[in-house]
Amino acid sequence: MSTVVAVGAQWGDEGKGKIVDWLGPQADLVARFQGGNNAGHTLVVDGETTILHVVPSGILHEGSVNLIGPGVVVDPAILLEEIRKLEERGILKDPSRIRVSGRAHVILPWHRALDSAREAAAGEAKIGTTGRGIGPCYEDKVARRGIRVADLRQVDTLRAKLAVVAEQKNFELTKMYSADPIDLDELFTQCVEWGRQLEPYLDHTGRILDRALRAGKNILFEGAQGTFLDIDHGTYPFVTSSNCVAGAVCTGSGVGPTRIDRVIGITKAYTTRVGSGPFPTELEDAIGEELRRAGAEFGATTGRPRRCGWLDGVLLREAVTVNGLTDLAINKLDILSGFDEIKICTAYDIDGKVTEDFPMTLSEVERAKPVYETLPGWSEDLSGMTSLEQFPDNARRYIERIEAIAEVPAALLSVGPGREETIILRELFD
Ligand code: GDP
Ligand code: IMO
Ligand code: MG
Repeated sequence: MSTVVAVGAQWGDEGKGKIVDWLGPQADLVARFQGGNNAGHTLVVDGETTILHVVPSGILHEGSVNLIGPGVVVDPAILLEEIRKLEERGILKDPSRIRVSGRAHVILPWHRALDSAREAAAGEAKIGTTGRGIGPCYEDKVARRGIRVADLRQVDTLRAKLAVVAEQKNFELTKMYSADPIDLDELFTQCVEWGRQLEPYLDHTGRILDRALRAGKNILFEGAQGTFLDIDHGTYPFVTSSNCVAGAVCTGSGVGPTRIDRVIGITKAYTTRVGSGPFPTELEDAIGEELRRAGAEFGATTGRPRRCGWLDGVLLREAVTVNGLTDLAINKLDILSGFDEIKICTAYDIDGKVTEDFPMTLSEVERAKPVYETLPGWSEDLSGMTSLEQFPDNARRYIERIEAIAEVPAALLSVGPGREETIILRELFD
């Protein structure tokens, strides 16, 4: 039995979906524990692309059960549509392969409306959210007025619960943002219908995990977003509204910390970010443009161009610390072919003081100038290579340098979006 947590070591879109799909055959259970459909996880198998927003990335493997834990926020319309598409493609034949916690909070139309209205009102100061209602939904959860998936089946009490919240939401929407109110009757009818359709998937995911652990099964936890979008450890306030670090597995799925064996941090071979907020190694030049073009760096959820820059070793070390990383997956190495030289940021210069530690405050991150180490590049195409031995020396050196900076070994290398374009260096499951 072993449990592996896969988390993003940067600002999201590191290729978590690809890695989770690749590890899928070894996992009996794959569980999401936080975030919602702000995530866009891309799986490419035999040239066919699947983008998942809510359903865990183990779903393409028939033997796996995919859990959506209580720490996730669920937009029923999106989840049901994702399920419908998977059924249509013949991938999902049995509802028991998707289990949704009754305790997960529901993203309602007012959450989306408020997300958009607040971002529009913030102007230049906007966070650049995905507009999916994630923040407002987590707010209601913490304020103890949220609607949970199981509530959608409690028809006698649901309307009254919705009515209390509706009054407040509609006040905010109409009075503060001059937006349209949400019709309570329509929403109630919609919620009852969602509850009916979600019934076959509703479950106690914590209990499923506990049983699986006792039975010696392998469990893979799939993070969404990334370490620096974490509400506590990220570049606050330019973050998402959940904890994305490995520790969130315990609260977001209902397993104890004693049961986690390995934590793999997924990083691109360079860095990207979508949305606002500081990004010390961002390149707003031809190299940044080339990374975006070569890496097809456009968001899987919103299609927005991703900001691009060199790998940031300061971030990576912080990710190692806050997640307790035991392993790394280094993705998109193929994208770096053809650069004469490749840089890695090893420290920040903040007002003339050089530090290797990730700063405490946002303004320090904003002022941080990257201190780079320059390594020679390589021209060989890495895609198609199946072992580290086939790599050019300079690519091998780059990987060794990343491992040395992180003080964590790489377990997986990725040289293309396809499932098979993955090189294993260390086994993760026993
Ligand atoms: P996630 O949110 O962390 O799952 O990552 P996304 O799916 O949003 O973004 C990663 C993108 O990079 C997707 O389009 C993947 O298909 C692609 N990708 C992942 N690994 C590799 C790789 O090694 N090489 C290339 N070229 N693309 C990759
Ligand atoms: P995956 O799982 C990259 C970013 C948004 C914005 C901030 C807050 O695919 O890696 P939110 O809608 O969550 O309130 O937006 O977080 N963001 C992501 N960036 N990948 C993601 O998910 C993201 N989910 C949210 O761009 O800056
Ligand atoms: Mg993504």
